[in-house]
Amino acid sequence: MPAELICFERACRARYPITEVIYNCRQCGGLIEARYEFRGVDPEALKRLWRERRTSNAPLDQSGVWRYRELIPFLDDTAGTAGIATLREGNTPLLEAPGAARWAGLDRVEFKHQGFNPTGSFKDNGMTCGAAQAIRLGMRRVACVSTGNTSASMAAYAAAAGLQPIIFIPHGNIAFGKLAQALEYGARTFQVEANFDQILALVRTLAERLGIYLLNSINPFRIEGQKTIVVEMLDQRDWRPPEWIVLPGGNLGNVSAFGKALRELRDLGLIAKMPKLAVIQAEGASPFYRFMRAPHPVPFRAVEHPETLATAIKIGDPVSWPKARFEVSSSGGVVEMVTEQEIADAKAQIGRCGIGCEPASAATLAGIRKLVGAGLIRAHADVVAVLTGNLLKDPDYIWRYHTGELEAPSGERLESTYGNRPEVVPNDAKRIEALLGG
Ligand code: F0G
Repeated sequence: MPAELICFERACRARYPITEVIYNCRQCGGLIEARYEFRGVDPEALKRLWRERRTSNAPLDQSGVWRYRELIPFLDDTAGTAGIATLREGNTPLLEAPGAARWAGLDRVEFKHQGFNPTGSFKDNGMTCGAAQAIRLGMRRVACVSTGNTSASMAAYAAAAGLQPIIFIPHGNIAFGKLAQALEYGARTFQVEANFDQILALVRTLAERLGIYLLNSINPFRIEGQKTIVVEMLDQRDWRPPEWIVLPGGNLGNVSAFGKALRELRDLGLIAKMPKLAVIQAEGASPFYRFMRAPHPVPFRAVEHPETLATAIKIGDPVSWPKARFEVSSSGGVVEMVTEQEIADAKAQIGRCGIGCEPASAATLAGIRKLVGAGLIRAHADVVAVLTGNLLKDPDYIWRYHTGELEAPSGERLESTYGNRPEVVPNDAKRIEALLGG
């Protein structure tokens, strides 16, 4: 299956070998994507093959990414496991959540919960591919800047693959659970006194100078892996596309991956209809919302000082916005933004369903509620929301919300609308019995 890298810009489309270390087009500066010449694809045979692999004990078949390797054929050979580190990523459930649906004004909603991944976020889907490409290229060191999840994931996959992970994070601005993971997986960790966007520029310079492989989502192989989130979701739905796929937007790599996956699935005849993509941003870090929802066409403008308690999506200058614009527009989708209070309450509602997620993920349900309210999503619509990270990533936020101590970046105290305060009691059965109404 011939594979190459190609400039994403429709007016350029410069091509590069699949083994080129390149993140932006040398001719026009555009983003890069992987492109394949798929030949002789039989959609029904592929669907059957992927189902069969679910019962296999081979490591690559057990991976929810490599199981779908026919759709990400950038390596010359995936017959064996050599050169691929898999922690059995993907394999994440599609969960119904009637309580959350009611709260958002929908008849029904399904959560594709990427927090069930080995390091607790959707980054694992992409990272197994990024690490495989690093090995194929003979790289020894890999680096990323991160709001936390990418670094935790990269550290794990680099460690598993025998690569040296080097991570750069905004000092004091990532959830503790994520930083703890990176340390435990053995990453060399730099806490930089700058924000995500500033550090990305720094890391790009360092990577080039030192020959370190960059594993941010600007890396096209990360995007290839993240395509499988949508593929697995459709497989779980017996190939019935939902009307909407809703996801949070930060650096906008994930929506780019989803759009590419859906277009390829449609072109190969695996699905007949394209779902619409809805991207939800936090109000204080919403450059893509402002760009896409402006009443007149405007140039893309970064938010210089992004602010949100959903630190995973605290990004003001998302690199993948040109891809994201294309994917959202061509799917007939929409971009929405939500407040800190809306995110916090949506998160508590997802928790009450016994599911739970990290703050950035809850932006999805908050966004759905707003879009249903505005009549953009119908109450009967078939909606899948992607929960991107695990509840335990950010326990500090949860504690503060439930005890009424959560403050927005502006300093404003948030309402503990669905708060659940722990009660301190004496070691006295009678008193506790009385509290329990016994
Ligand atoms: N949700 C979570 C939990 C994330 O960690 C991220 C991104 C996003 C949503 C947004 O995804 O960037 O593809 O639009 N986290 C990155 C990181 C930036 O460094 O971990 P996106």
